[in-house]
Amino acid sequence: MAELLSTKIHETLPEKYVRPETQRPLFSEVITGTKIPIIDLKSPVDQIISQIGHASQSYGFFQVVNHGIPDELLLKVMAIAIEFFRLPAEEKEKLYTDDPTKKVRLSTSFNVARETVHNWRDYLRMHCYPLEKFMPEWPSKPDLFKEVISTYCKEVRQLGMKLLGAISLSLGLEEDYIKEALGEQEQHMAVNFYPQCPEPELTYGLPAHTDPNALTILLQDPEVAGLHVLKDGKWIAVDPLPGALVINIGDQLQALSNGRYKSVWHRAVVNSSKERLSVASFLCPSNSALVSPAKKLTEITPPVYRDYTYDEYYKKFWSRNLDQEHCLELFKS
Ligand code: OGA
Ligand code: NI
Repeated sequence: MAELLSTKIHETLPEKYVRPETQRPLFSEVITGTKIPIIDLKSPVDQIISQIGHASQSYGFFQVVNHGIPDELLLKVMAIAIEFFRLPAEEKEKLYTDDPTKKVRLSTSFNVARETVHNWRDYLRMHCYPLEKFMPEWPSKPDLFKEVISTYCKEVRQLGMKLLGAISLSLGLEEDYIKEALGEQEQHMAVNFYPQCPEPELTYGLPAHTDPNALTILLQDPEVAGLHVLKDGKWIAVDPLPGALVINIGDQLQALSNGRYKSVWHRAVVNSSKERLSVASFLCPSNSALVSPAKKLTEITPPVYRDYTYDEYYKKFWSRNLDQEHCLELFKS
């Protein structure tokens, strides 16, 4: 069994975390200071829709402010998440598993059983919808964990649905097109904990990947940077903007938009002075949903992707390594 990173202090980077020389993060080439679009959700609706359309097409990423989820709740989520990773090793051991099919699991790296090089990350992954079904299996410690996280899950789902409506409209589709097309959506959460790393230039928290789901809502550590997004062949650092949420288009929205919106490569790097935390919420099509490029869009451009069920896609995604070719490449028509 692989070991959680968060159960001890690391003075040196173990060999199994060292990336080959050609695959390292190259910090000096990362672009800082430019920003992915920031969208104010209190702006006039037309403006929001056009900004979302532009961002989804050219960045695949944007940040939202005035999104309606209280700052205070975001802070509580971060605080309880940190508290979780500080639990005694024995407590965390109980939740540990390498099996990606488990609906609540504490694990490390990405897919420990398959990968050759590990990532400097521990994570708690949980199914979150419907809450009544999965909450009983969530960690029962810290005491307020279930209460705080479930409150956040509800808020995030609401925000996600609102964004999917705006994304539909921005594609020239009916407001509820995406919601209907994706069926009763699942909601998953990954609480990512990236401990301080003795040699951050040799490894990743998460290597370059695209998200296999439809839409991701990421709550970043307000103080510690680490997220990079690929834009025109260069990595851009997404510096934290306190109170904002980072939104990205996942593979399923790229397919549904017939390639117009981009599920772009992104990665998380680590650093030697501070641990970093992020909470990713993933909206996912129901397993049986048949994903296909929207008909209205294939009248303009022939379908880029074939029809497939999300079940088929998800199984393919987890059977591979994170940093292979874009998983959607395997579903071209
Ligand atoms: C993810 C992810 C980025 C981060 O969990 O899929 O991309 O900054 N996380 O933790
Ligand atoms: Ni991701």
